[in-house]
Amino acid sequence: MNRTASPTDSTPVTQAIIDRHDQYMSINYGRWPIAMVRGEGTTLYDADGKQYLDLFAGFGGPLLGHCHPDLVEAVTQQAKQLWFVGNLFHTEPQTLLAERIAKHGFGGRSFFCHSGADANEAAIKVARLYGGANPGKSGARFKVITAHRSFHGRTFGAMAATAQERVYKGFEPNVPGFTHVPYNDLNAIEQAIDDHTVAIMLEPIQGEGGVNLPDAGYWPGLRKLCDKHELLLIADEVWTGCGRTGKWFGHQHWDVKPDVMTLAKGVGGGLPVGVTCMADKAAELFDHRKHGGVAHATTLGGNLLSMAVAARIFDVIERDNLLAHATQLGEHAIARLQKLADALPTVKQVRGKGLFVGLELDPAAEGARFETSRDVVNQCLQRGVLVNAAQTNVLRIAPALTIERDALDRGLDVIAEVLGG
Ligand SMILES: Cc1ncc(COP(=O)(O)O)c(C=O)c1O
Repeated sequence: MNRTASPTDSTPVTQAIIDRHDQYMSINYGRWPIAMVRGEGTTLYDADGKQYLDLFAGFGGPLLGHCHPDLVEAVTQQAKQLWFVGNLFHTEPQTLLAERIAKHGFGGRSFFCHSGADANEAAIKVARLYGGANPGKSGARFKVITAHRSFHGRTFGAMAATAQERVYKGFEPNVPGFTHVPYNDLNAIEQAIDDHTVAIMLEPIQGEGGVNLPDAGYWPGLRKLCDKHELLLIADEVWTGCGRTGKWFGHQHWDVKPDVMTLAKGVGGGLPVGVTCMADKAAELFDHRKHGGVAHATTLGGNLLSMAVAARIFDVIERDNLLAHATQLGEHAIARLQKLADALPTVKQVRGKGLFVGLELDPAAEGARFETSRDVVNQCLQRGVLVNAAQTNVLRIAPALTIERDALDRGLDVIAEVLGG
Protein backbone atom coordinates (compact mmCIF):
# COMPACT_ATOMS: atom_id res chain seq x y z
CA MET A 1 0.00 0.00 0.00
CA ASN A 2 1.38 3.35 -0.95
CA ARG A 3 1.55 5.96 1.75
CA THR A 4 1.07 8.64 -0.90
CA ALA A 5 -2.39 7.21 -1.59
CA SER A 6 -3.58 9.06 1.47
CA PRO A 7 -7.28 8.92 2.29
CA THR A 8 -6.91 11.95 4.49
CA ASP A 9 -4.26 14.57 4.95
CA SER A 10 -2.67 13.56 8.22
CA THR A 11 -2.95 16.17 10.93
CA PRO A 12 0.08 16.90 13.14
CA VAL A 13 -1.46 14.67 15.84
CA THR A 14 -1.74 11.67 13.54
CA GLN A 15 1.57 12.34 11.83
CA ALA A 16 3.37 12.33 15.18
CA ILE A 17 1.89 8.90 15.97
CA ILE A 18 2.92 7.59 12.55
CA ASP A 19 6.47 8.97 12.83
CA ARG A 20 7.11 7.29 16.18
CA HIS A 21 5.53 4.09 14.95
CA ASP A 22 7.72 4.03 11.86
CA GLN A 23 10.84 4.65 13.92
CA TYR A 24 10.38 1.61 16.15
CA MET A 25 8.03 -0.81 14.45
CA SER A 26 8.82 -3.38 11.80
CA ILE A 27 7.35 -1.94 8.61
CA ASN A 28 5.91 -5.23 7.37
CA TYR A 29 2.36 -3.99 6.95
CA GLY A 30 1.24 -1.32 4.51
CA ARG A 31 -0.92 0.85 6.73
CA TRP A 32 -3.23 3.70 5.91
CA PRO A 33 -2.07 7.03 7.37
CA ILE A 34 -4.75 6.87 10.03
CA ALA A 35 -4.30 6.17 13.75
CA MET A 36 -7.30 4.45 15.31
CA VAL A 37 -7.82 5.13 18.99
CA ARG A 38 -11.28 3.93 19.92
CA GLY A 39 -14.05 1.60 18.80
CA GLU A 40 -17.65 1.07 19.76
CA GLY A 41 -19.79 -1.48 17.97
CA THR A 42 -19.30 -0.84 14.27
CA THR A 43 -17.87 2.66 14.72
CA LEU A 44 -14.17 3.49 14.86
CA TYR A 45 -12.67 6.82 15.90
CA ASP A 46 -9.26 8.06 14.78
CA ALA A 47 -6.80 10.26 16.65
CA ASP A 48 -8.40 13.35 15.13
CA GLY A 49 -11.88 12.32 16.21
CA LYS A 50 -13.04 11.34 12.72
CA GLN A 51 -15.60 8.49 12.70
CA TYR A 52 -15.58 5.48 10.42
CA LEU A 53 -18.26 2.88 9.82
CA ASP A 54 -16.38 -0.41 10.08
CA LEU A 55 -17.52 -2.86 7.41
CA PHE A 56 -14.46 -5.06 7.77
CA ALA A 57 -14.14 -5.71 11.52
CA GLY A 58 -10.36 -6.04 11.80
CA PHE A 59 -9.90 -8.89 9.31
CA GLY A 60 -12.68 -10.78 11.05
CA GLY A 61 -11.31 -10.41 14.59
CA PRO A 62 -13.91 -8.28 16.39
CA LEU A 63 -16.74 -10.60 15.33
CA LEU A 64 -19.25 -8.88 17.64
CA GLY A 65 -17.95 -5.38 16.97
CA HIS A 66 -15.61 -3.25 19.02
CA CYS A 67 -15.75 -3.43 22.82
CA HIS A 68 -19.00 -5.41 22.98
CA PRO A 69 -20.31 -4.90 26.54
CA ASP A 70 -20.73 -8.66 27.22
CA LEU A 71 -17.15 -9.31 26.16
CA VAL A 72 -15.82 -6.38 28.16
CA GLU A 73 -17.60 -7.86 31.15
CA ALA A 74 -16.26 -11.39 30.46
CA VAL A 75 -12.66 -10.24 30.11
CA THR A 76 -12.85 -7.91 33.10
CA GLN A 77 -14.32 -10.59 35.34
CA GLN A 78 -11.69 -13.11 34.27
CA ALA A 79 -8.89 -10.55 34.56
CA LYS A 80 -9.71 -10.14 38.23
CA GLN A 81 -9.80 -13.89 38.83
CA LEU A 82 -7.03 -15.76 37.01
CA TRP A 83 -5.07 -15.17 33.80
CA PHE A 84 -3.00 -18.24 33.26
CA VAL A 85 -1.46 -21.14 35.14
CA GLY A 86 -0.03 -23.27 32.35
CA ASN A 87 -1.56 -26.34 30.80
CA LEU A 88 -0.55 -28.58 33.69
CA PHE A 89 -3.90 -27.83 35.35
CA HIS A 90 -7.58 -27.99 34.46
CA THR A 91 -9.31 -24.64 34.06
CA GLU A 92 -13.00 -24.02 33.55
CA PRO A 93 -12.88 -21.31 30.81
CA GLN A 94 -11.01 -23.69 28.45
CA THR A 95 -13.67 -26.34 28.99
CA LEU A 96 -16.46 -23.80 28.47
CA LEU A 97 -15.10 -22.91 25.05
CA ALA A 98 -14.35 -26.50 24.02
CA GLU A 99 -17.90 -27.52 25.01
CA ARG A 100 -19.42 -24.78 22.86
CA ILE A 101 -17.32 -25.65 19.83
CA ALA A 102 -18.27 -29.31 20.17
CA LYS A 103 -21.96 -28.50 20.69
CA HIS A 104 -22.29 -26.22 17.68
CA GLY A 105 -19.88 -28.12 15.46
CA PHE A 106 -19.33 -31.85 15.03
CA GLY A 107 -18.32 -32.83 18.54
CA GLY A 108 -14.60 -33.49 18.78
CA ARG A 109 -11.84 -32.24 21.06
CA SER A 110 -10.22 -28.82 20.91
CA PHE A 111 -6.56 -27.83 21.09
CA PHE A 112 -6.07 -24.12 21.81
CA CYS A 113 -3.37 -21.87 20.42
CA HIS A 114 -3.12 -18.25 19.25
CA SER A 115 -3.75 -17.75 15.54
CA GLY A 116 -4.99 -19.29 12.35
CA ALA A 117 -1.50 -20.27 11.21
CA ASP A 118 -0.88 -21.83 14.59
CA ALA A 119 -4.15 -23.80 14.43
CA ASN A 120 -3.30 -25.01 10.92
CA GLU A 121 0.19 -26.11 12.01
CA ALA A 122 -1.48 -28.31 14.61
CA ALA A 123 -3.85 -29.68 11.94
CA ILE A 124 -0.94 -30.48 9.63
CA LYS A 125 0.95 -32.16 12.47
CA VAL A 126 -2.02 -34.30 13.42
CA ALA A 127 -2.39 -35.27 9.75
CA ARG A 128 1.22 -36.47 9.70
CA LEU A 129 0.59 -38.53 12.82
CA TYR A 130 -2.51 -39.96 11.17
CA GLY A 131 -0.45 -40.87 8.10
CA GLY A 132 2.09 -42.60 10.32
CA ALA A 133 -0.60 -44.54 12.16
CA ASN A 134 -2.41 -45.42 8.91
CA PRO A 135 0.36 -45.91 6.33
CA GLY A 136 -0.03 -46.51 2.60
CA LYS A 137 1.58 -49.39 0.71
CA SER A 138 4.86 -47.50 0.48
CA GLY A 139 5.04 -46.27 4.06
CA ALA A 140 3.83 -43.36 6.18
CA ARG A 141 1.45 -41.01 4.40
CA PHE A 142 2.19 -37.28 4.72
CA LYS A 143 0.93 -35.32 1.71
CA VAL A 144 -1.78 -32.72 2.18
CA ILE A 145 -3.78 -31.46 -0.79
CA THR A 146 -4.67 -27.75 -0.72
CA ALA A 147 -6.17 -25.38 -3.27
CA HIS A 148 -4.90 -22.60 -5.48
CA ARG A 149 -5.74 -19.14 -4.10
CA SER A 150 -6.02 -20.63 -0.60
CA PHE A 151 -4.66 -18.91 2.47
CA HIS A 152 -3.68 -20.88 5.55
CA GLY A 153 -1.14 -18.62 7.29
CA ARG A 154 2.46 -17.51 7.20
CA THR A 155 4.32 -20.01 9.37
CA PHE A 156 6.36 -22.63 7.50
CA GLY A 157 3.77 -25.41 7.32
CA ALA A 158 0.83 -23.09 6.76
CA MET A 159 2.80 -21.11 4.18
CA ALA A 160 3.62 -24.28 2.22
CA ALA A 161 -0.07 -25.19 2.41
CA THR A 162 -0.98 -21.76 1.05
CA ALA A 163 -0.98 -22.03 -2.70
CA GLN A 164 -0.10 -18.41 -3.42
CA GLU A 165 3.40 -17.62 -4.60
CA ARG A 166 3.25 -14.08 -3.20
CA VAL A 167 3.06 -15.63 0.28
CA TYR A 168 6.00 -18.03 0.12
CA LYS A 169 8.21 -16.09 -2.35
CA GLY A 170 11.66 -15.54 -0.87
CA PHE A 171 11.22 -18.11 1.89
CA GLU A 172 11.81 -21.22 -0.20
CA PRO A 173 12.46 -24.08 0.03
CA ASN A 174 8.90 -24.74 1.11
CA VAL A 175 8.18 -27.51 3.60
CA PRO A 176 7.58 -30.58 1.40
CA GLY A 177 4.40 -32.61 1.36
CA PHE A 178 1.80 -30.25 -0.12
CA THR A 179 0.03 -30.63 -3.44
CA HIS A 180 -1.83 -27.63 -4.84
CA VAL A 181 -4.86 -28.08 -7.08
CA PRO A 182 -7.55 -25.75 -8.46
CA TYR A 183 -10.33 -24.90 -5.96
CA ASN A 184 -13.82 -26.26 -6.58
CA ASP A 185 -12.53 -29.08 -8.80
CA LEU A 186 -13.17 -32.55 -7.37
CA ASN A 187 -11.61 -34.22 -10.36
CA ALA A 188 -8.34 -32.36 -9.77
CA ILE A 189 -8.32 -33.60 -6.20
CA GLU A 190 -8.98 -37.18 -7.21
CA GLN A 191 -6.13 -37.02 -9.73
CA ALA A 192 -3.79 -35.62 -7.07
CA ILE A 193 -4.41 -38.37 -4.51
CA ASP A 194 -1.58 -40.88 -4.34
CA ASP A 195 -0.28 -43.48 -1.92
CA HIS A 196 1.32 -40.76 0.23
CA THR A 197 -1.74 -38.52 0.52
CA VAL A 198 -3.15 -38.24 4.01
CA ALA A 199 -5.41 -35.17 4.07
CA ILE A 200 -7.29 -32.53 2.13
CA MET A 201 -7.23 -29.07 3.69
CA LEU A 202 -9.56 -26.39 2.32
CA GLU A 203 -11.50 -23.29 3.25
CA PRO A 204 -15.29 -23.76 3.00
CA ILE A 205 -15.32 -20.38 1.25
CA GLN A 206 -11.95 -18.98 0.24
CA GLY A 207 -11.36 -15.68 2.02
CA GLU A 208 -8.06 -14.07 1.12
CA GLY A 209 -8.35 -15.64 -2.33
CA GLY A 210 -11.30 -13.34 -3.06
CA VAL A 211 -14.44 -14.75 -1.35
CA ASN A 212 -14.67 -17.76 -3.67
CA LEU A 213 -17.67 -20.04 -3.17
CA PRO A 214 -17.63 -23.67 -4.22
CA ASP A 215 -20.43 -25.48 -6.06
CA ALA A 216 -23.04 -27.26 -3.94
CA GLY A 217 -21.54 -30.69 -4.62
CA TYR A 218 -17.97 -29.79 -3.71
CA TRP A 219 -17.91 -30.38 0.04
CA PRO A 220 -20.11 -33.50 -0.09
CA GLY A 221 -17.80 -34.78 -2.84
CA LEU A 222 -14.74 -34.04 -0.70
CA ARG A 223 -16.23 -36.03 2.15
CA LYS A 224 -16.80 -39.00 -0.15
CA LEU A 225 -13.26 -38.84 -1.49
CA CYS A 226 -11.85 -38.68 2.03
CA ASP A 227 -13.92 -41.67 3.12
CA LYS A 228 -12.93 -43.65 0.03
CA HIS A 229 -9.19 -42.99 0.42
CA GLU A 230 -9.07 -42.82 4.23
CA LEU A 231 -7.99 -39.17 4.25
CA LEU A 232 -8.58 -36.53 6.88
CA LEU A 233 -10.84 -33.72 5.74
CA ILE A 234 -9.53 -30.50 7.30
CA ALA A 235 -11.81 -27.45 7.13
CA ASP A 236 -9.92 -24.19 7.61
CA GLU A 237 -12.71 -22.13 9.17
CA VAL A 238 -10.47 -19.29 10.28
CA TRP A 239 -12.57 -16.84 8.24
CA THR A 240 -15.82 -18.74 7.93
CA GLY A 241 -16.21 -19.96 11.52
CA CYS A 242 -18.42 -18.75 14.36
CA GLY A 243 -21.37 -17.39 12.43
CA ARG A 244 -19.58 -15.28 9.84
CA THR A 245 -21.47 -16.94 6.96
CA GLY A 246 -24.81 -17.37 8.77
CA LYS A 247 -24.09 -20.90 10.07
CA TRP A 248 -21.98 -21.73 13.09
CA PHE A 249 -19.35 -23.10 10.74
CA GLY A 250 -19.01 -22.81 6.97
CA HIS A 251 -18.99 -26.54 6.23
CA GLN A 252 -22.52 -26.77 7.68
CA HIS A 253 -23.90 -25.10 4.55
CA TRP A 254 -23.34 -28.43 2.82
CA ASP A 255 -24.24 -30.72 5.69
CA VAL A 256 -20.78 -32.23 5.77
CA LYS A 257 -18.64 -33.06 8.78
CA PRO A 258 -14.90 -32.55 8.54
CA ASP A 259 -12.46 -34.56 10.66
CA VAL A 260 -10.52 -31.50 11.72
CA MET A 261 -11.61 -27.86 11.85
CA THR A 262 -9.41 -24.85 12.52
CA LEU A 263 -10.65 -21.55 13.93
CA ALA A 264 -9.07 -18.20 14.72
CA LYS A 265 -9.93 -14.54 13.96
CA GLY A 266 -13.56 -14.13 15.13
CA VAL A 267 -13.48 -16.93 17.72
CA GLY A 268 -11.42 -14.65 19.98
CA GLY A 269 -13.41 -11.50 19.19
CA GLY A 270 -10.14 -9.62 18.71
CA LEU A 271 -8.07 -11.52 21.28
CA PRO A 272 -5.56 -14.07 20.00
CA VAL A 273 -7.25 -17.46 19.90
CA GLY A 274 -6.58 -20.38 17.56
CA VAL A 275 -8.47 -23.66 17.75
CA THR A 276 -7.84 -27.05 16.20
CA CYS A 277 -10.95 -29.13 16.79
CA MET A 278 -10.45 -32.80 16.02
CA ALA A 279 -12.80 -35.78 15.69
CA ASP A 280 -11.78 -38.77 17.79
CA LYS A 281 -9.70 -40.56 15.16
CA ALA A 282 -7.47 -37.46 14.89
CA ALA A 283 -7.69 -36.28 18.51
CA GLU A 284 -6.45 -39.59 19.88
CA LEU A 285 -3.14 -39.06 18.10
CA PHE A 286 -2.51 -35.95 20.23
CA ASP A 287 -3.29 -37.93 23.41
CA HIS A 288 -0.06 -37.73 25.41
CA ARG A 289 -0.72 -41.16 26.96
CA LYS A 290 -0.86 -42.82 23.56
CA HIS A 291 1.81 -40.66 21.93
CA GLY A 292 4.27 -41.33 24.71
CA GLY A 293 4.75 -37.67 25.62
CA VAL A 294 3.49 -34.29 24.49
CA ALA A 295 2.73 -34.41 20.76
CA HIS A 296 1.98 -30.72 20.36
CA ALA A 297 1.82 -27.75 22.71
CA THR A 298 2.11 -24.01 23.08
CA THR A 299 2.71 -22.29 26.41
CA LEU A 300 0.00 -19.64 26.44
CA GLY A 301 -2.55 -21.58 24.37
CA GLY A 302 -5.87 -21.50 26.18
CA ASN A 303 -4.99 -18.48 28.33
CA LEU A 304 -8.02 -17.72 30.40
CA LEU A 305 -8.69 -14.15 29.26
CA SER A 306 -9.00 -15.32 25.67
CA MET A 307 -11.02 -18.38 26.65
CA ALA A 308 -13.51 -16.41 28.76
CA VAL A 309 -14.16 -14.02 25.88
CA ALA A 310 -14.36 -16.75 23.23
CA ALA A 311 -16.83 -18.83 25.26
CA ARG A 312 -19.00 -15.73 25.82
CA ILE A 313 -19.00 -14.99 22.09
CA PHE A 314 -20.81 -18.28 21.42
CA ASP A 315 -23.37 -17.43 24.11
CA VAL A 316 -24.03 -13.96 22.70
CA ILE A 317 -24.41 -15.31 19.15
CA GLU A 318 -26.99 -17.82 20.43
CA ARG A 319 -28.81 -15.41 22.75
CA ASP A 320 -29.08 -12.63 20.16
CA ASN A 321 -29.92 -14.90 17.19
CA LEU A 322 -26.95 -13.57 15.30
CA LEU A 323 -26.83 -16.46 12.84
CA ALA A 324 -30.28 -15.53 11.51
CA HIS A 325 -29.30 -11.85 11.61
CA ALA A 326 -26.13 -12.49 9.59
CA THR A 327 -28.09 -14.57 7.07
CA GLN A 328 -30.80 -11.91 6.62
CA LEU A 329 -28.43 -8.95 6.39
CA GLY A 330 -26.12 -10.90 4.10
CA GLU A 331 -29.02 -11.64 1.73
CA HIS A 332 -30.02 -7.98 1.87
CA ALA A 333 -26.48 -6.78 1.12
CA ILE A 334 -25.99 -9.24 -1.71
CA ALA A 335 -29.34 -8.30 -3.27
CA ARG A 336 -28.47 -4.60 -3.12
CA LEU A 337 -24.99 -5.14 -4.51
CA GLN A 338 -26.34 -7.41 -7.23
CA LYS A 339 -28.57 -4.55 -8.42
CA LEU A 340 -25.43 -2.42 -8.54
CA ALA A 341 -23.65 -5.12 -10.54
CA ASP A 342 -26.58 -5.30 -12.97
CA ALA A 343 -26.37 -1.56 -13.51
CA LEU A 344 -22.61 -1.00 -13.50
CA PRO A 345 -20.03 -2.57 -15.82
CA THR A 346 -17.40 -1.89 -13.14
CA VAL A 347 -18.86 -4.65 -10.94
CA LYS A 348 -18.43 -8.08 -12.54
CA GLN A 349 -19.78 -10.35 -9.84
CA VAL A 350 -21.16 -10.31 -6.30
CA ARG A 351 -20.65 -13.41 -4.18
CA GLY A 352 -20.78 -14.46 -0.57
CA LYS A 353 -22.75 -15.98 2.25
CA GLY A 354 -23.95 -14.31 5.41
CA LEU A 355 -21.83 -11.29 6.27
CA PHE A 356 -18.92 -12.39 4.10
CA VAL A 357 -19.31 -10.69 0.74
CA GLY A 358 -16.99 -10.06 -2.18
CA LEU A 359 -17.42 -7.83 -5.21
CA GLU A 360 -15.29 -8.67 -8.20
CA LEU A 361 -14.47 -5.41 -9.91
CA ASP A 362 -13.49 -4.59 -13.46
CA PRO A 363 -11.16 -1.59 -13.51
CA ALA A 364 -11.00 -1.77 -17.31
CA ALA A 365 -14.76 -1.21 -17.62
CA GLU A 366 -16.06 2.05 -19.04
CA GLY A 367 -16.46 4.76 -16.43
CA ALA A 368 -14.23 3.04 -13.80
CA ARG A 369 -12.77 5.60 -11.41
CA PHE A 370 -10.30 3.13 -9.91
CA GLU A 371 -7.43 0.93 -11.00
CA THR A 372 -7.48 -1.57 -8.16
CA SER A 373 -9.79 -2.55 -5.32
CA ARG A 374 -7.43 -0.63 -3.01
CA ASP A 375 -8.33 2.59 -4.79
CA VAL A 376 -11.96 1.85 -3.94
CA VAL A 377 -11.05 1.17 -0.31
CA ASN A 378 -9.20 4.50 -0.25
CA GLN A 379 -12.18 6.41 -1.64
CA CYS A 380 -14.51 4.71 0.84
CA LEU A 381 -12.16 5.64 3.71
CA GLN A 382 -12.27 9.26 2.62
CA ARG A 383 -16.04 9.04 3.00
CA GLY A 384 -15.71 7.40 6.45
CA VAL A 385 -16.41 3.78 5.51
CA LEU A 386 -13.92 0.97 6.06
CA VAL A 387 -13.93 -1.91 3.58
CA ASN A 388 -11.13 -4.19 2.39
CA ALA A 389 -9.32 -5.24 -0.76
CA ALA A 390 -8.85 -9.00 -1.18
CA GLN A 391 -6.72 -9.57 -4.27
CA THR A 392 -6.28 -6.59 -6.59
CA ASN A 393 -9.76 -6.81 -8.08
CA VAL A 394 -12.00 -7.95 -5.21
CA LEU A 395 -13.61 -5.64 -2.68
CA ARG A 396 -14.52 -7.42 0.53
CA ILE A 397 -17.12 -6.65 3.16
CA ALA A 398 -17.17 -8.51 6.49
CA PRO A 399 -18.76 -6.36 9.19
CA ALA A 400 -19.40 -7.42 12.77
CA LEU A 401 -22.33 -9.84 13.12
CA THR A 402 -23.99 -7.22 15.30
CA ILE A 403 -24.25 -4.57 12.58
CA GLU A 404 -27.66 -2.91 12.23
CA ARG A 405 -29.41 -2.78 8.89
CA ASP A 406 -29.35 1.05 8.78
CA ALA A 407 -25.61 1.14 9.28
CA LEU A 408 -25.06 -1.51 6.64
CA ASP A 409 -27.23 0.45 4.21
CA ARG A 410 -25.25 3.62 4.87
CA GLY A 411 -22.06 1.75 4.05
CA LEU A 412 -23.54 0.21 0.91
CA ASP A 413 -24.66 3.68 -0.24
CA VAL A 414 -21.07 4.86 0.00
CA ILE A 415 -19.73 1.83 -1.87
CA ALA A 416 -22.33 2.40 -4.59
CA GLU A 417 -21.36 6.06 -4.85
CA VAL A 418 -17.65 5.23 -5.15
CA LEU A 419 -18.28 2.57 -7.77
CA GLY A 420 -20.30 5.05 -9.80
CA GLY A 421 -23.86 4.08 -8.87
C1 LIG B 1 -8.57 -19.11 5.98
C2 LIG B 1 -7.40 -18.60 6.78
N1 LIG B 1 -6.64 -19.48 7.44
C3 LIG B 1 -5.60 -19.10 8.18
C4 LIG B 1 -5.26 -17.76 8.29
C5 LIG B 1 -4.11 -17.35 9.13
O1 LIG B 1 -4.59 -16.79 10.29
P1 LIG B 1 -3.66 -15.90 11.23
O2 LIG B 1 -3.42 -14.63 10.50
O3 LIG B 1 -4.45 -15.73 12.47
O4 LIG B 1 -2.41 -16.68 11.43
C6 LIG B 1 -6.03 -16.81 7.62
C7 LIG B 1 -5.70 -15.39 7.70
O5 LIG B 1 -6.20 -14.55 7.02
C8 LIG B 1 -7.12 -17.24 6.83
O6 LIG B 1 -7.89 -16.36 6.16
